[in-house]
Amino acid sequence: MLRFDILTLFPAMVQAVLEQSIPRIAAEQGAVEYHLHNFRDFAEGVHQAVDDRPYGGGAGMVLKPEPIFKCIRHVLPQAELPHMVLLTPQGRPFTQRVAEELAAKPRILMLCGRYEGFDERIRLGWQWDEISIGDYVLSGGELAALVITDAVVRLLPGVLGDEASADEESFGKGLGGKLIEYPHYTRPVEFEGMRVPEVLQSGHHGEIAKWRLEQARKRTKERRPDLLDDE
Ligand code: ADE
Repeated sequence: MLRFDILTLFPAMVQAVLEQSIPRIAAEQGAVEYHLHNFRDFAEGVHQAVDDRPYGGGAGMVLKPEPIFKCIRHVLPQAELPHMVLLTPQGRPFTQRVAEELAAKPRILMLCGRYEGFDERIRLGWQWDEISIGDYVLSGGELAALVITDAVVRLLPGVLGDEASADEESFGKGLGGKLIEYPHYTRPVEFEGMRVPEVLQSGHHGEIAKWRLEQARKRTKERRPDLLDDE
């Protein structure tokens, strides 16, 4: 069982997604547990401020260290030591390989930022795995945490009905990890003049596997030549 602890100022936003589809099924099956924590609950004063103006001036606000330190210290002893993930555009790029790495952990704590950034002492306080989901700036780490959670839980044993189905996908192990997926067809055999390729109807497993690999290579070359470059 994989336990997620997600620290966020918007738990309802995170909860809404985890209650649907595969993330929900994963929890119902007991493959995963989600624990959401609002670090505003650990902030002091009538206003429970979690951010403040930056030393040195400049635009935007910075997340204060105290509420986040308190929240982490409250959450850490609830289970074994977690792998700690900080969501930030400054992090290492998230890929299918990173999802596989995380799916092997027993516990993951994710810290979602808001505003211009974190007080640097939050970075220095723990050993973080800083992760970015792409070269663009989101309003907060929540969507990034959800992207990562979704990509990880679907890799856990038994979550997708058929154990092998994640391997055959784009970036999956069955395609060598470096190809995007081949085209899929279902019934009807002809739709608006477009026919299902004969080979897929042949029942010849060897020929089908060969066609799929060729198609995956062709698609990757056309759409994502960068994936083939780093061979
Ligand atoms: N927070 C804001 N932008 C982000 C990104 N691209 N990846 C991860 N966390 C973020």
